[in-house]
Amino acid sequence: LSDPVSDLIDVENREVSVAALHDPDLYELEMERIFAKAWLLLGHESEIPNVGDYVVRLMGEDQVIVARAADGQVHVSLNVCPHRAMHICIADSGNARVHKCIYHGWAFRPDGSFIGAPIEKEKMHGEIKSKEQLGLKKARVTVYGGLVFATWNHDGPTLEDFLGDMKFYYDMLFCRTDGGLEILGPPQRLTIDANWKTAGEQSACDGFHTLTLHQSLLEGGAMAGEENTEHESAPAMYGVNVSGNGHSLRCIPADTSWAMMAGKTHAGMTDDERLELMPPPGITKDLLPQVRKNLSAEQLHVFAKAPPVVGGMFPNVNLLFIYSPLRDGTLGSAMVMHSINPKGPEKFEWVTYFFAEKDTPEEVKAMMRAAATQGTGTSGVIEQDDSDTWPHMSESARGVIGRTETLKYQAILGETRPDDWPDKAKVYSGFSKDDAQWNWWLAYRDLMLAEA
Ligand code: FES
Repeated sequence: LSDPVSDLIDVENREVSVAALHDPDLYELEMERIFAKAWLLLGHESEIPNVGDYVVRLMGEDQVIVARAADGQVHVSLNVCPHRAMHICIADSGNARVHKCIYHGWAFRPDGSFIGAPIEKEKMHGEIKSKEQLGLKKARVTVYGGLVFATWNHDGPTLEDFLGDMKFYYDMLFCRTDGGLEILGPPQRLTIDANWKTAGEQSACDGFHTLTLHQSLLEGGAMAGEENTEHESAPAMYGVNVSGNGHSLRCIPADTSWAMMAGKTHAGMTDDERLELMPPPGITKDLLPQVRKNLSAEQLHVFAKAPPVVGGMFPNVNLLFIYSPLRDGTLGSAMVMHSINPKGPEKFEWVTYFFAEKDTPEEVKAMMRAAATQGTGTSGVIEQDDSDTWPHMSESARGVIGRTETLKYQAILGETRPDDWPDKAKVYSGFSKDDAQWNWWLAYRDLMLAEA
């Protein structure tokens, strides 16, 4: 497959072959050209606060050890023993100053460097390589807002370049308080029988599905509209999508969110008044001074006008930083990130990380964890809807006739930037449309063709 996507992605008509959701050869190339090249989310450094702490995560189908080493830094090493390819870490997480392979006893530090092996000289027949050559394969790491990203592409773009203009918006979510984010407990993990791209492209601001797939939420009042307005039946359908380098976020007007959740409007207020009345999801009022200090005036204006609340990061991150009603009727918020880890052409692992700002009061963190679990956890009312659709799409792609169909992205209107919106990334405002999702596919195509 020298050019794996020209027949699958019809750029002129903006259609993608359904076969792309199944093809095993294409999947192998995705592992090489996307998952071995792109920056991937592996978790948060608050999961491994102490020297020796580690978690085992996936980069594509490769297991990696994410560990805090003696230098205090986060290191990411391939969890493959250089002796006979045994996994070094068998547990999902723990603390170890030495990682010793259970097969023949080779030992490694948390930074991946080789310490030694039992009967080292005898085993090597005197031809022992230098210890530097026997360490675990290392990934390139960047910690951004406490989130741990890694890539095998040591000579490729920095994470900052990879995020491009979208970093302006991600900073608003990950770098807005002095203490930064804190993870709330270990992640939830669920295996879904579907191709990873079903969830991946949906994460690029598929607003349309809210109206139908999540109709029960609308009917239940969790996303009810304000009476007698254009948003009455579908408030979440209106917003501002921002997109760049395949990444995207959906910003929902604060007025709409306020109307949806509290049945009130605060139109006509200044940015400061709006922020004070209804801070962005995940921000308690006592954290507002920190947010004002850490963000620019442009970022604060976006927060007051239409905070980014859902979306993703190319290629395999979905995020929701949302207002969320609690069972007792009060208004809470949930901060959640999912990573979509491929495990074959028809299977992926859906990992759910729950967050709060570190400086959030403990009782509010508990409420946020509850709200996130109820809404976006493995058994949450939102994700149960979504995870029901993805296997159907994958099954469609298995049929010899089904795979001849196409995914259609014709709802494209081009950029529509509100007058007072910052000049950052591509901006599409108004009713939901396909632009951001199509940009996801273009980014996918670019990477898949990069080595063709
Ligand atoms: Fe690890 Fe032999 S496979 S020491």
